[in-house]
Amino acid sequence: MFDFDQRIDRTGTNSVKWEASHPDYNAEGMLPLWVADMDFACPPAVTEALIKRASHPIYGYPMKQKVFYQALQEWIAKRFGASVEVSWMTSVAGVVPGIYVAIDAFSAPGEKVVIQTPVYHPFAIAIENRGRQVVRSSLVERDGHYDMDWEDLAQKLADPQVKLMLLCSPHNPVGRVWTKQELERLGSLCAEHGVIVLSDEIHADLVYEKGSHTPFFALPAELASQSVTFVAPSKTFNLAGLFTSYVLTPNERLLRMYKQTAAKLGNEHINLFGMEAAVAAYRHGEQWLDELLAYLHGNARYLHEFLAQRIPEVTMNVPQATYLGWMDFRRLGLEQADLNRVIRREAKLGLNDGALFGEEGTGFQRINFACPRALLVEAMERLERALHS
Ligand SMILES: Cc1ncc(COP(=O)(O)O)c(C=O)c1O
Repeated sequence: MFDFDQRIDRTGTNSVKWEASHPDYNAEGMLPLWVADMDFACPPAVTEALIKRASHPIYGYPMKQKVFYQALQEWIAKRFGASVEVSWMTSVAGVVPGIYVAIDAFSAPGEKVVIQTPVYHPFAIAIENRGRQVVRSSLVERDGHYDMDWEDLAQKLADPQVKLMLLCSPHNPVGRVWTKQELERLGSLCAEHGVIVLSDEIHADLVYEKGSHTPFFALPAELASQSVTFVAPSKTFNLAGLFTSYVLTPNERLLRMYKQTAAKLGNEHINLFGMEAAVAAYRHGEQWLDELLAYLHGNARYLHEFLAQRIPEVTMNVPQATYLGWMDFRRLGLEQADLNRVIRREAKLGLNDGALFGEEGTGFQRINFACPRALLVEAMERLERALHS
């Protein structure tokens, strides 16, 4: 049994969540519940592997060994029941850097990329930074449950200028796990219009119903072959600072184009320690992950129930995946600036402003609940005091 209730002081560890002195997130006694890493120790096998490697005092250029890819291959077979080839894979120092490479590889400046808002805000930033146009298709919300807007997607994907669909699967911040049927429908629409799907599956391991996530590469071959998927052990095992992620596609041509672009951009290398950690996590971290998921689900239920009982004007559904809660404050009728002030200055909570993820996030805040339960109890009591005093 791993002890996720243990409070671990992160000061002095260069943690952006706890140590960056940002007025919106962690200044003046604020409780930081924002950037998506966890306040939990990673699987012990990972720490052991890192210590073992660190004890050899030469840290020269690393080689991407086959075992690094095989560990992911075995993990995918075990967790998703999908079979992938090592030859489908390459690696990159972070999913976001991989998305930048893919945008360059598969579209030209001025062309368009579809995203589904509200969504992880670096998507739009990446598209704009690479000189492409962002096309936003709003998700449709009903009672806190989000669906894709099929009519809108069909219309937007039909624009010949649209070359890429940047999918968040599972979706941050709304916590949806897209069903196989939804992904097939989306994949078919994209295939019909020659649009390549970039599927960001960094949260794929963090689903609360076992087997509910379908990797895009596991869809029927004609759809999978028009996609490139990003996965990583970073969210799953709390290794974000090691900057080690994977890129995967069954389409040899797309993989070649991705790799050529990565080489041109000088973006091919990954970290020695990240590889050690990834192999240890995928080979020895499964029990830890299952216990983590049970704990996180308990945290999400705690937030949901606390709000229902004590602050019913604020709501948050238990997400289907991710350790991010999407809190709906719209019933308070506050302007976003006033809502942000109440959350940050009065409740002293460092949450992410929902509007960051797109205009659909106005009236929302995103809470990272990957921390010991006691911290969430404190956060909810702060919120209750701020709203009811
Ligand atoms: C959907 C999504 N993609 C990518 C990332 C970040 O990935 P990386 O740190 O590997 O660039 C995050 C982090 O929160 C995320 O939520």
